[in-house]
Amino acid sequence: MKGAGTGPQASLREILQGRFLLGAALNDAQIAGQDPVALEIVRRHFSTISPENALKWDAVHPEPDRFEWAAADRYVALGVKNHLAVIGHVLVWHEQTPSWVFAGAAGATLDPELLLARMRTHIRAVVGRYRGLVQAWDVVNEAFEDDGTWRKTPWYRALGEEYVARAFEFAHEADPDAQLYYNDYNLWKTPKREAAIRLVTSLRQRGIRIDGVGEQAHWLLDGPGIEEIEPMIVDFAKTGTRIMMTELDVDPLPRPDELIGADVSKRVDLKPELDPCADGLPDDLQQRLARRYRDVFSMFARHRAVSRVTFWGVTDADTWLNQWPVRGRTNHPLLWDRQGQPKPAFDAVVEALRRAASNGA
Ligand code: G3I
Repeated sequence: MKGAGTGPQASLREILQGRFLLGAALNDAQIAGQDPVALEIVRRHFSTISPENALKWDAVHPEPDRFEWAAADRYVALGVKNHLAVIGHVLVWHEQTPSWVFAGAAGATLDPELLLARMRTHIRAVVGRYRGLVQAWDVVNEAFEDDGTWRKTPWYRALGEEYVARAFEFAHEADPDAQLYYNDYNLWKTPKREAAIRLVTSLRQRGIRIDGVGEQAHWLLDGPGIEEIEPMIVDFAKTGTRIMMTELDVDPLPRPDELIGADVSKRVDLKPELDPCADGLPDDLQQRLARRYRDVFSMFARHRAVSRVTFWGVTDADTWLNQWPVRGRTNHPLLWDRQGQPKPAFDAVVEALRRAASNGA
């Protein structure tokens, strides 16, 4: 495989030389070995993997007394076999959680203690099973609204703010060596970032382990600007926590402004005018996407606090942005196209990382 203009294709992992972990989220077909093109990219370029869906509550724990480990086991084994840092995603979220979790016992309203017990059982089982194999967990996902207020999820409504602290405590009990992260989108927005910083600070003051924060980094071609993202990295670094880009992609297609981020409860139906690049990404957009990736990777390389960057998907064939915020459109947000060929954006990342390495960043 060749990257346009780069000669024999560079390995991103080799260029990075451990500067930060680089990876991608794998879907269930990839985990099952049914996508050799994507797996070749992973082995050549990445040092870490995340499970797009395989470790979510609805996948591993569909009923109170039933766990489904097959896909999750395959995921962890794939990472171990290929010497990749294996990330766990996600223990406590309001999406992809079966309705029984939030249901009261036989006709009663939900008892907070029962919900807490369910949370503990789940975390103990999942984290305990992969103790020593999964290096780090997204413990809680998306606890805040963009304005910094608590998101009124079923977790919050039943347990209040304390649900986050308890989730971190349960995860730490189940694997004392695992790194534990808080994960959210739009943390570049100041009120949301301040809320996450307050959370990190208060957990630490209480002696509860939290190792880092993940900005999901579902971004657009024109926003957020570097001048908005960089202060986020600096502010988290000041707290002494790691900051990771856990779900990076850059959407080059038009999107209503209010849908920046990743609120999966909001979606619109496909209309031809919302699917302008069904036949491929035109050259001007390829070049803009490449410049955007160059700029963000140059910035990541400037900050030692950035410890991992994970793309949410391997090639454009599998990106969740083919389904969100518009169902069924043809999107192009990643470094590899639908055939697994590197795009100009790949070359731009190579260039940014090489330049950073030669500057001693
Ligand atoms: O499990 C069903 C399966 O039984 C059914 O056959 C299939 C048919 O459509 O649907 C399957 O469920 C889908 C699931 O992915 C597994 O493939 C859901 O419809 C679909 O909505 C779900 O989307 C996932 C989304 O989270 C839902 O919350 C995306 O793949 C996944 O990329 C996305 O990931 C999230 C992160 O976890 C958190 N941050 C935002 C990010 C993007 O939304």
